Amino acid sequence: MSVTETITRSVRLAAQLSKSRLSRWQEMLPAIAAQEDDLKALSDYQLRKSSLALRHRAKSGEPLDDLLIEGFAIVREAGRRTLHMRHFDVQLLGGMAMHNRSIAEMQTGEGKTLTATLPMYMASLTGKGALLATVNDYLATRDAEWMRPLYQALGVSVGVIESNMPPTSRAKAYQCDVTYGTAKEFGFDFLRDRLVKRQMAQGSNDFLGRMLGTGGAGPMVAGQIVQRPMHFALVDEADSILIDDARTPLIIGAAPSEAQKLAVAAYKWSAESAHHFVEDEHYEYDHEKKSVELTAEGRRLVRNLPKPPSLDELGMVFMYDYIERAIRVWRDMILDRHYIVRDGEIVIVDEFTGRLAEGRRWQAGIHQAIEAKEGLEVTVESGQAARITVQDFFGRFPRLAGMTGTAATAAGEMKKIYGLHVVQIPTNRPPQRMQLDSVVCGTSEEKWDVIVDEICEVHATGRPVLIGTRSIDKSHILSERLTAAGIPHQVLNANRVAEEADIVAQAGQPGRITVSTNMAGRGTDIKLEDSVAAGEGLHVICTEMHESARIDRQLIGRCGRQGDPGTYRMYFALDDELLRSGLGAKAADRLKQVGSTVAGPFDSYERLFSRAQRRVERRHFRDRKALLYFERERKKVQRQMGQDPYLDTPG
Ligand SMILES: Nc1ncnc2c1ncn2[C@@H]1O[C@H](COP(=O)(O)OP(=O)(O)OP(=O)(O)O)[C@@H](O)[C@H]1O
Ligand SMILES: [Mg+2]
Repeated sequence: MSVTETITRSVRLAAQLSKSRLSRWQEMLPAIAAQEDDLKALSDYQLRKSSLALRHRAKSGEPLDDLLIEGFAIVREAGRRTLHMRHFDVQLLGGMAMHNRSIAEMQTGEGKTLTATLPMYMASLTGKGALLATVNDYLATRDAEWMRPLYQALGVSVGVIESNMPPTSRAKAYQCDVTYGTAKEFGFDFLRDRLVKRQMAQGSNDFLGRMLGTGGAGPMVAGQIVQRPMHFALVDEADSILIDDARTPLIIGAAPSEAQKLAVAAYKWSAESAHHFVEDEHYEYDHEKKSVELTAEGRRLVRNLPKPPSLDELGMVFMYDYIERAIRVWRDMILDRHYIVRDGEIVIVDEFTGRLAEGRRWQAGIHQAIEAKEGLEVTVESGQAARITVQDFFGRFPRLAGMTGTAATAAGEMKKIYGLHVVQIPTNRPPQRMQLDSVVCGTSEEKWDVIVDEICEVHATGRPVLIGTRSIDKSHILSERLTAAGIPHQVLNANRVAEEADIVAQAGQPGRITVSTNMAGRGTDIKLEDSVAAGEGLHVICTEMHESARIDRQLIGRCGRQGDPGTYRMYFALDDELLRSGLGAKAADRLKQVGSTVAGPFDSYERLFSRAQRRVERRHFRDRKALLYFERERKKVQRQMGQDPYLDTPG
């Protein structure tokens, strides 16, 4: 079966299954509603007491399913009292889906944050802890603080895991009845705990002393286990975390060994000393091979130059190597031509395209020599101590559930990999979001022009506008153009994480213009001011199609939430990146040629973009399948050898 067939079939299957499950759950709604009046009559104290009574029954072994009706009714009442939000019927259905190990597909803006309190509360009754995994720190904190009053009213404690939190606070947060945090932090804590456990088993401090966190993994392992045994995890934006991020493994790197520390010192000393060496006197330079060779004179200089005592341990032959490399880098590798320095890291500039080659590294010590030359931290490759994929991590929970606005196309994968059904929940009110005709431009230049025109037009009516761009530099391009046109606006991208909450909070005010990267894609809830909600709502402009239709739908989903009015428009250009990655270089070049030489309109080209997007989606789908297979085989081999598949054997 082709990938397209698989996807279409899985969407159809999800719809059928949803119907049969939903009708079963719908029968429970009247029973929940029937308790409402009695619960309303309770004082806050009494409400809390009845919640604690429920917990007692759960702990005494009464099955959670038998407590569902009472539990849901209590949570609904707490929501009404503390947050002035009474769970809608469709939210109760979403809650039941998640309670029953499924992914609730609820449209963007339907209120999944509130819905999640239902299954979280039910899972908390057993006292074994319940985790809610989000995609970023902003959402983890926002959701925990937003829902806290509801939980508190029911005697349920709430913890949040933030990056850079010390282990003691982490442990405390995990001890709470419900814990919010990012999937990444949860995964890293799992790995750290595993390292700590092994250290305890080995009874030695020595190995752990050498561990350190990498990749923003937060603080170091400090010999304390922070997580409780896995019980229940609810994954928000489930398609992003469980499908898209499944490809990126979480890795804790091993700390550098003595030999590696010595190497760092040698790189640094050589970088500082390179300028003493004169061509043809101390070294010879081969212009064809671009290689440096020290002369006898040069070697003498290496021996005689003052150096830190630690380097005495390194043999002279090695020192010559370090110096030769440092001289080469000093002469040949030029800042802002061959590479740039960004956030304390070297980023290579690709010679052929002039673009940044993110994540690529020069080999044979050149990269480290450049880092030393620029006075940056020298990154020695130190290997991995522990790793796990997101897929593996969540696959280990005895009870798993999820929610998202965009899951149906991934339903097959969810079932196969995690054993989770996708259940489509109807909207509370009919959606009023309106798509305006797409615009296809010949070139991106023209595209930015018409986008600025549209922003001006909508701005004149007083409506707020949200513009989504695919990258940080594109958000800058648009921002500059808006400034040139004299239009005040806000920019939200990775450089402004701290201001995120403020920028989002104001994005629904009349006349606001917000340019954002994908940061405002998922989960962001833009509250509309009354006058805006009573008018035409928020207008969303998609400046470029993404590599996945789900991401486009998430951006569009920032408007028309909760049945509010809203409009959106998609823009395309014949030189968009997507055409290159989806249709290949040849076709992309041909289209680019058309775009720059022929006069528009190009509307007939619109379906090409969807085709390109589908091709990229299929490619990613295949990649994920391959990764899954590879990981499975790797773990099988490690298990057969009696090793922990997540930890590397300490050297
Ligand atoms: N039962 C309710 N009564 C009143 N307002 C509600 C209710 N449920 C949700 N809302 C409101 O709906 C808005 C959207 O909620 P939320 O951000 O949780 O949606 P979401 O489904 O998570 O969207 P996304 O897919 O974009 O993450 C919020 O402003 C929230 O206050
Ligand atoms: Mg959300």
